[in-house]
Amino acid sequence: MLIFNNKADLGSLLSRYISKGSSIGFVPTMGALHQGHLSLLEQSVQNNAVTVISIFVNPTQFNNTDDLQQYPRTVEADMEKIKTISDAIVVFVPSVTEMYEDKTESTHFDFDGIENQMEGSHRAGHFDGVGTIVKKFFEYVQPTNAYFGEKDFQQLQIVKKLVKKHNIPVNIVGCPITREANGLAMSSRNQRLTAAEREAASLLYKTLLAAKKQFATKSITEIKTHVATTFLAHPAFELEYFEIAAEDDLVPTTIKQDKKYRAFIAVMLSNVRLIDNMSLN
Ligand code: PAJ
Repeated sequence: MLIFNNKADLGSLLSRYISKGSSIGFVPTMGALHQGHLSLLEQSVQNNAVTVISIFVNPTQFNNTDDLQQYPRTVEADMEKIKTISDAIVVFVPSVTEMYEDKTESTHFDFDGIENQMEGSHRAGHFDGVGTIVKKFFEYVQPTNAYFGEKDFQQLQIVKKLVKKHNIPVNIVGCPITREANGLAMSSRNQRLTAAEREAASLLYKTLLAAKKQFATKSITEIKTHVATTFLAHPAFELEYFEIAAEDDLVPTTIKQDKKYRAFIAVMLSNVRLIDNMSLN
């Protein structure tokens, strides 16, 4: 396994692949790796000549300093997990100054309004931070294919907008959500939950499944009322939002048209923020 902290060294290794026209797969992460991240890595390893994974807790996408400080950092264990997929994976673990030099700031992006909905409206500046770091990574890695999870569906759509608007020649591959046996979407933040809380957190998945079942016969307003009532009965959870939106614009709606819809949920459980989503039709 090759580990780089420095973008110039990474660049000189990757230039050998670029000059031969070999495909580079890229999986950006913030570490504390779990099976969800590893499923992205597996796809990349299967489909590219070389795979690069980045591990970088990006400060500009955190709107909450507590969340940034408490974000799990487990680089040693991450390396062991990466090795189980392949010994040939290139790991990029830069410092904050390596990525931002002397200005740890985001660029402001216009993603045609997608950035203002749901996660965007609840986490000020979050998608500017994501856009800033992902654009930098794409410049340094120059991937052929980059892998993003549907777990962060809004982020996936934003990255697609980013490459389209900035003419970045990379294919964005969306990958399905990996879940625990009880349905809880895997997340690095789950490490901060107790075993009992992890069990209880399957309520998000159950809520999404129920919404999917109801979507064919009930109105969106009825489904939203049902969800609000469910969470009132579970006071350990604080429901931040439950929305239904078409996949193409991600504007929360109450009107069904002939489009593909998804349900999106964000909750706080014992100071840990959890998000999930599910295709409805
Ligand atoms: P992070 O939360 O570490 O996630 C890295 C990638 O793994 C993202 O594309 C995310 O959607 C995917 N992922 C996380 N949990 C998943 C699951 N349960 N199933 C499938 N995929 C999953 O997302 C980020 O980091 C950052 O915003 C980043 C893109 C690295 C920019 O800093």
